Amino acid sequence: MKNVFIFDHPLIQHKISLLRDKNTSSKEFRELVSEISMLMGYEVTRDIPLKEVEIETPVGIAKTKVVSGKKLAFVPILRAGLGMVDGMLKLVPMARVGHIGLYRDHDTLEPVEYYCKLPDDIGERDVVVLDPMLATGGSGCDAVKFLKNHGAKNIKFVCLIASQQGVERLSREHPDVGIYCAAVDERLNEHGYIVPGLGDAGDRLFGTK
Ligand code: PRP
Ligand code: URA
Repeated sequence: MKNVFIFDHPLIQHKISLLRDKNTSSKEFRELVSEISMLMGYEVTRDIPLKEVEIETPVGIAKTKVVSGKKLAFVPILRAGLGMVDGMLKLVPMARVGHIGLYRDHDTLEPVEYYCKLPDDIGERDVVVLDPMLATGGSGCDAVKFLKNHGAKNIKFVCLIASQQGVERLSREHPDVGIYCAAVDERLNEHGYIVPGLGDAGDRLFGTK
């Protein structure tokens, strides 16, 4: 699929393997999610426009480039998306952060919205949605629809592990949204968990059950 980008960088793949390990502690899990997010952020921001400037060095004038001031917003889907924010902000500290609170109903697997706070000018920003898991795709699709209803036009969806089904659903419902992930796993189990996946990302990040 044209809109799907899979990170094959060796460091990302190595860290994803550590994340999948059920013996990885919450502390290590949090650190790994943050590190992987920063590495992904490097690629996700590749198309940020530059402008030419002149900078006075101790030796002379350099004609050089800086980012042109294009505005970005990171929007984590609560809770698990929170783990990806600081890695991204390390790369783009001036970005704004919006929050969308969704949880999956355990029986229906349908997303339930409980919180939203977005920057006022979200319609003028390039938006990067953050969520470690794209499983049925219900949460991702709802979050993107919500953002579009608030005026967002240029949206990327960044996750760590996706399912084939989730990728297909998000691509079908929002073909304009680029999907960035480190792995596409083959299936979901009867509880809607990605197999083999990494388990419940929110619980592993925050040490809950
Ligand atoms: C997880 C995950 C996604 C969603 C993915 O969140 O972080 O938001 O499930 O599943 P879907 O693609 O089938 O919608 P969860 O609902 O467990 O909430 P949490 O982050 O608060 O733990
Ligand atoms: N949410 C998770 O945290 N993990 C999955 O495998 C699916 C949804």
